[in-house]
Amino acid sequence: VGKDGSGRPAPRGAFLTEAGREGAFYGRRRGKGLRQGQAKRLDEALGQWRIESGSDPLPDPVTLFPHRPAQVYLEIGFGGGEHLATLAAAHPDIGFIGCEPFVNGMAKLLGLVEERDLGNVRLWDQDATMLVARLPKASIDRIYLLYPDPWPKRRQRKRRFVSDERLGALAGILKPGGELRFATDIDDYAGWTLARALRSADFAWTAQGQADWRAWDGWPGSRYEAKARREGRGSAYLVFRREP
Ligand SMILES: C[S@@+](CC[C@H](N)C(=O)[O-])C[C@H]1O[C@@H](n2cnc3c(N)ncnc32)[C@H](O)[C@@H]1O
Repeated sequence: VGKDGSGRPAPRGAFLTEAGREGAFYGRRRGKGLRQGQAKRLDEALGQWRIESGSDPLPDPVTLFPHRPAQVYLEIGFGGGEHLATLAAAHPDIGFIGCEPFVNGMAKLLGLVEERDLGNVRLWDQDATMLVARLPKASIDRIYLLYPDPWPKRRQRKRRFVSDERLGALAGILKPGGELRFATDIDDYAGWTLARALRSADFAWTAQGQADWRAWDGWPGSRYEAKARREGRGSAYLVFRREP
């Protein structure tokens, strides 16, 4: 089995969305140590936090939360959910939607959500592109895409989450002035994303100087950021503003 650079086994085939077309998820749905029975229990436990699957357009996402937050943030591919849980606990006034099809990651975040009783979190356990397609235009204040799977081999790059088409879809759901926050420890993926965002009329890169893309002040970090540091890699932190 080959490696994609993120330490995960290479997938055996493209994931098909409910609509039957090829989606953006190429990773594993389930890792070691999660048996069928546990996956079933997780499925049940997701209950009150899950956004129901389907292809129907969703209502304004503020209505997904009991407190109708003034702002809604979306995190795509939250991994173990450390970043999302920390932010959600620190900002109870903001609604957080987390997407992660990897069942073990979802189980981890669900543990944190239950332990901290985070009523301001909603979860989507499938390919994020399916959710993005259902969200209303200009309904999200901020999107996080942190350390997405790098797919470093040339022939695999088309599997990267960032593409012109997908940036267009993300721009569509962001409010004018909203932000797309992207982090990676793979230089080539930073350049890839920058090139696509800069040629999009929808986004402006907010960095004024080096300090603005070398780190984000006060951010809690993520598991893959810690892994990059352990392995001696720095990262790029890119913020793109949705142009009106
Ligand atoms: C390299 S991990 C990074 C996890 C986390 N963001 C971090 O920084 O620690 C990338 C994650 O993105 C998820 N992912 C990949 N494609 C996705 C998609 N189309 N929709 C949602 N999540 C996706 C994977 O399952 C994986 O957990």
